[in-house]
Amino acid sequence: MRNRASRTAEQVALFRALETARGRDRVFDDPLAVRFLRGGYRGLARAAHIRVVGRGLEKYIDRRWPGPRPSAVARTRLIDDLVTGALAHGARQVLLLGAGYDSRAYRLPGIERVAVFEADHPATQAVKRRLVRGAVRPERRRHVHYVPVDLLTEDLGAVLLGAGFGALEPTVVVWEGVTNYLTEAAVDGTLRRLASLTATGSRLIFTYVDRRALRGEIPVAESWHRAVRRQGEPWTFGFDPAALPGYLAERDMRLALDLSTRDAADRYLQPLGRAENAASFYRVAEAEIQ
Ligand SMILES: C[S@@+](CC[C@H](N)C(=O)[O-])C[C@H]1O[C@@H](n2cnc3c(N)ncnc32)[C@H](O)[C@@H]1O
Repeated sequence: MRNRASRTAEQVALFRALETARGRDRVFDDPLAVRFLRGGYRGLARAAHIRVVGRGLEKYIDRRWPGPRPSAVARTRLIDDLVTGALAHGARQVLLLGAGYDSRAYRLPGIERVAVFEADHPATQAVKRRLVRGAVRPERRRHVHYVPVDLLTEDLGAVLLGAGFGALEPTVVVWEGVTNYLTEAAVDGTLRRLASLTATGSRLIFTYVDRRALRGEIPVAESWHRAVRRQGEPWTFGFDPAALPGYLAERDMRLALDLSTRDAADRYLQPLGRAENAASFYRVAEAEIQ
């Protein structure tokens, strides 16, 4: 990634802000998402509170870039539920890895009772921190620790421990929308580090792109591919879903869940009568650390 704040992270925040603006039939409420947007994006998200404008914007986005918006919405809600479950089952710290404009540290009920580590590329994190300072009162962010790290070049273990991360604490790690921007070596190194740093029974929630989509064996709307490439954040890594359980087992992890964002949309959006176009090659997995 180039040395500037992630553009794709901002787009995910825009999708969350649009979902939040829906009001009654939204599948999550992320009031900070709009505060993380700048310029035109913030204007769009504000205008989306007018129902007809919000629906029109979603329609325009989905026609021009089929897939990413409903995929982001469905995965956000699924991961909210998984993190909430892990907290209820005794996780004592949360690591948001490649946090972007994720606001879970400030919005999930009860999360303020545990330590939250937001680790991200320094360029994105600098912008996020400035925006958080303007949007979240100090007492509502006292439990949050910011850890700048480039996963392609730095040792995650050393930087986390240096920031006060509790080694061998029951932890829930969220690695959402990130693996597809890394290298095979960086993903492998990060997984091994996470397995050695956290307590047995800790949870790792991560998203990945089905490798066959990167090879052109599963169709991806060309506009989606082109958009991320043009922004300097091309997809560089994917897993083969069939090989994932074995791959994780070699790294002391047991795959507990592996759902496509299409499946997640069927669970959360379909019951609201929202026929969505979420991607089947974009997946959310949860692993238990052994
Ligand atoms: C699509 S955004 C997802 C952000 C957030 N997790 C979410 O779902 O809203 C990708 C994130 O990966 C981070 N990222 C990409 N390459 C990275 C690297 N080499 N080291 C650390 N973070 C990286 C970006 O800074 C950005 O926050």
